[in-house]
Amino acid sequence: MATTHYFHYQNNQLFVENIEIAAIAAQFGTPTYIYSQCALLSNWQEFDQSLQGTPHRICYAVKANSNLAILNILAKQGCGFDIVSLGELERVLAAGGDPNKIVFSGVGKTTVEIERAIAVGISCFNVESESELERLQIIAKQYNKIIPIALRINPNIDAKTHPYIATGLHENKFGIEIEKAWPLCQKILTTLPNLKLIGIACHIGSQLMELQPIIEAIDCLDPLIQKLLKENISLQHINIGGGLGVQYQNETPPSIQEYTQTIRKKLEKYKLEIILEPGRTIVANTGILLTKIEYIKQTAHKNFAIVDAAMNDLMRPALYDAWQPIFSVFKKPHVKENTYDVVGPVCESADFLGKNRLLAIEVNDLLAIGIAGAYGASMSSNYNSRPRAAEVLVDGDKMHLIRRREEIPDLFRLESITN
Ligand code: LLP
Repeated sequence: MATTHYFHYQNNQLFVENIEIAAIAAQFGTPTYIYSQCALLSNWQEFDQSLQGTPHRICYAVKANSNLAILNILAKQGCGFDIVSLGELERVLAAGGDPNKIVFSGVGKTTVEIERAIAVGISCFNVESESELERLQIIAKQYNKIIPIALRINPNIDAKTHPYIATGLHENKFGIEIEKAWPLCQKILTTLPNLKLIGIACHIGSQLMELQPIIEAIDCLDPLIQKLLKENISLQHINIGGGLGVQYQNETPPSIQEYTQTIRKKLEKYKLEIILEPGRTIVANTGILLTKIEYIKQTAHKNFAIVDAAMNDLMRPALYDAWQPIFSVFKKPHVKENTYDVVGPVCESADFLGKNRLLAIEVNDLLAIGIAGAYGASMSSNYNSRPRAAEVLVDGDKMHLIRRREEIPDLFRLESITN
């Protein structure tokens, strides 16, 4: 089973930490996201401790899982945050995050978002275009502030991942071409007095299985960093983004240790703070999506397990053809195994959670979809007018409801009928 030991079987029954998964289903219903606090803390500590002795900051990428409870646990550990919207900024603040440890990424920051980020004093804007630099200068001047910025560079490196989550190629909308970076730095220094260039950033993609593209990206940044240091520009940090992959099936991603040590080795000569923006590696293996089998449908061609979770709850299989592990909450040695497509009730053929899975199951059984802590709940929607799932966090033998299940009135609370 591709999951952490925080999710484990005892007498053929799945537990999270000290709690029976079935007890959570009984109390909160299904579909429900379930997270292990121990797993979260352990991932965070592994990341942070692997860089002990080197000036560094881990800015957790909020988009991976933006539940307030998750953000709060990380904030209490001293974690920083990588945000991409006003909503994420307000979530981090509401969860007790330190504004001074927030970096703001994204190609489309609006004026309202920038104003609020300046007002609360975030630590850095990761700027992705010349046009954004100009807007930042106008707003900073208006508020009579000098604001810290980093240039996010697009190094044109193939991260060798799914094309939808690759970000470091010229064809992607992200970052500033390396050839334009130096002229833009000069522009900042000479004509944009309210901007202070404190960093260089890059993020080449997500679910990376190899370190070589990251090494190549750093090599691509090197001449620019050297030039800036030579010109005595007071750079404070280099931000290598997030992107380290996790194991969903039988991939073998580099370990957190290998990843951070490779980056550390490449960057230590600059004597600058290292910023990383991991999302998936911090939360993916901390969560499962719990679902119940409503029907089993056997046809001449295929068997379907129709469950009460769907693509609106977990979009990754439909959107990226992603493989997520699926396992029974109760192992049933007496039930005959069969091959099933595990599908939801949404009216699209893309609504599957897994295809061709060997399972020993019966109607009303509980299934767990593993490695669902990252880009699960945070990408969920109300498609087919389905209320969003509940979220439960387990800490030892305690369970906390960290997001109540949406109810039917929540679905149209914001709508009105015209007269
Ligand atoms: N920093 C930046 C600027 C990013 O764009 C991202 C992710 C991260 C950090 C965090 O990357 P991570 O460590 O989580 O790989 N929905 C997709 C993943 C999209 C990632 C978008 N950017 C999925 O479910 O696979």
